[in-house]
Amino acid sequence: MLKIVQTKPYDDQKMGTAGLRKKSKVAMQENYVENFVQSIFDAIGGVEGKTFILGGDGRFYNKIALQKILKMSAANGMKKIIVGQNGYLSTPTSSRVLLKNKADGGFVLTASHNPGGPNGDFGIKYAIASGGQCPTSLSDKIYENSKKISEYKTLDTADVDLSTISKQNLAGMEIEIIDSLNDYINMMEEIFDFPAIKKLFANGFRFVFDAMNAVTGPYALKIFEEILGAPKGTVRNYVPMEDFGGLHPDPNLIYAKSLVDLMYSDDAPDMGAANDGDGDRNMILGKKFFVTPSDSLAILTDNYKLIPAYKNGIYGVAKSAATSTAVGRVAQALNIGYYEVPTGWKYFCNLMDSKRITFCGEESFGTGSSHIREKDGIWAVLFWLNIIAVTGKSVEEITREHWQKYGRSYYMRNDYEIADAEVANLLMKDLENRLPSLEGKTFGNYTVSEAKPFVYNDPVDGSSTKNGLIIYFTDKSRIVYRLSGTGSSGATLRVYLERYETEKFAENVEQMLESLADVSRQIGEITERTGKTKADLLT
Ligand code: G1P
Ligand code: ZN
Repeated sequence: MLKIVQTKPYDDQKMGTAGLRKKSKVAMQENYVENFVQSIFDAIGGVEGKTFILGGDGRFYNKIALQKILKMSAANGMKKIIVGQNGYLSTPTSSRVLLKNKADGGFVLTASHNPGGPNGDFGIKYAIASGGQCPTSLSDKIYENSKKISEYKTLDTADVDLSTISKQNLAGMEIEIIDSLNDYINMMEEIFDFPAIKKLFANGFRFVFDAMNAVTGPYALKIFEEILGAPKGTVRNYVPMEDFGGLHPDPNLIYAKSLVDLMYSDDAPDMGAANDGDGDRNMILGKKFFVTPSDSLAILTDNYKLIPAYKNGIYGVAKSAATSTAVGRVAQALNIGYYEVPTGWKYFCNLMDSKRITFCGEESFGTGSSHIREKDGIWAVLFWLNIIAVTGKSVEEITREHWQKYGRSYYMRNDYEIADAEVANLLMKDLENRLPSLEGKTFGNYTVSEAKPFVYNDPVDGSSTKNGLIIYFTDKSRIVYRLSGTGSSGATLRVYLERYETEKFAENVEQMLESLADVSRQIGEITERTGKTKADLLT
C-alpha cells in the first residue's frame, strides 16, 4: 500500500568524492536514507518508467537500506529494478550491469574501503545512465532538495526476499534478482588471455588474493581457483561479512597487513593482491616488493599490447592530479592522449565516453579502463597476471625494467587527521593565498618553479573544477595538497609527495622523500597549525 511519510530535512547530505558517506549511526537515523533517496528521485524528474540497478558490498545496514530503497522505488513508480542476489553487487559489477541493461541509474550501498559495522561507516553511491557516479551539478541539486524535503513515498508492505534468482513484482514494479558473478566473469574472459594465465598457474606460479572479508571474495574464488586453476587457499578472507571481520578493508601496506607480512616473508608467493570493501581498489605485491598504484597504472599502460582486448590500440590515458606523473611519461612515449583530472573517478567518465581515454587510475589504489565506468580491482589483478603469464617476468622485474626505461617517481601520500575541520579549511585557504609568494623560493634542496591551485576544465562538458593545490619544483618534484572528500568526521589533509630520479634507485622510499616531507610541512605550516610533526598515515 502506498504511504506518504512526512519528514524533516537533514542538512548534511552533500555527496563527497564518491557518493554519500556517513557513520553508520548517522545513516541509521529516522528517515535519513529515505530523505536522500527521495531527494535523488526528485532531482532527476522522478523515476516513473525508469530502470535502476541496486546492490551493495554487504556491509552493516545494507539489508535494511536495500529494502527501504526497493519500497521507495516501487512507490515512486519505477518500472524495473535489477538487484544482485542477496543484495550483493561490487562497484565494478554494478557499473557493468547498469551499462549492459542500459539502465537509467543505480545505487551501490557501500562506504568503499572504510570499516563497516555499527561503529563503522555506511554509504550510498548513486550512478547515472552512463555507468559512472553522478556529476557535481546533479549532486548539488540533490543536496538542495535534501535540505528542504518534507515528504517521501514508500510502501507499507513486507520485505522482499532477495535470496533467489527470480523475477518478482512489487506494486507494479518488476524486481529482477540476478547472478552478478557470471556476467562480470564473462567480461573478464573477453578482455584477458585466460588460457595463458591458466598455464601460468598450472606451471606452479604462486599467487595469493586477499578479499578482505568483502564483496570480491566470491568473484575471486570463482575466477582464480575454479576457472584459472590456482590451488585451493589462493583466495583468502573470501566470505563477505557485515563488519569485514573487523578488518579495515583498504588494500594498502598498512591495512592489508597479513597479506603484506606474507609477501615480505621468506616463503612469499610470487604475487599477492588485495581488493577493498566494494571491489574497486587493488594492491599489487611481488615477492618482498610493492608496486605503487601510480607505477602500476604506468606499467599496465606500457604493456597494453599484451592484452587481447587492447592489442589493437588504446585511446589515451588519464590520472588524478595527485597521482604521480609516471604514466605521463608512458603516454608521451606511446604518443597517446594524456589527461590530469581532479580526484574522484567521476572525472574520468566523460573522457571514456568520448573515447579520449582507455585506461585511468588514481594513487589511492584505483585502476581501471573503459570496459565500465568505475575502477575495477579484479581487472587490475588479471591485467598483472596476464603480463606475467606472457612475459614470464616477475612483478619486481617488470617494475624495475619500467624504471630503467622511464625513470622512477618516488611517491608517497601523507595523511594528517585533523579533528577540527575548520583548522584544515583555514590551512588550505591560507596556503592558497600564499602560493604566489612561494614561486622561486628555495626550501632545503627544493626550489619552487610554480605553485597554483589545480583547476580542471572538462573538455567534454565544459565544466570547471578546482581541487587541491600543487607546488612544482625545478627538479620535477611535486607536492599536492588537498582535503579528503570521503571522510565521515573531522578532516583529513592529504599531502602527496613525488620525486623523480633517473639513475640511482634507492630502495627506501620514505628516506628518499624525507626532506620533501619536511618541506611539505614547512610550506603548508602543518606543524604550526596542527601540532603534528609527522603524518598519521603513510601510504
Ligand atoms: C579517496 C581517494 C580518491 C578516490 C576516493 C573514492 O577520496 O583519495 O582517489 O577516488 O577515495 O575511492 P578522498 O578521501 O581523497 O576525497
Ligand atoms: Zn572502493
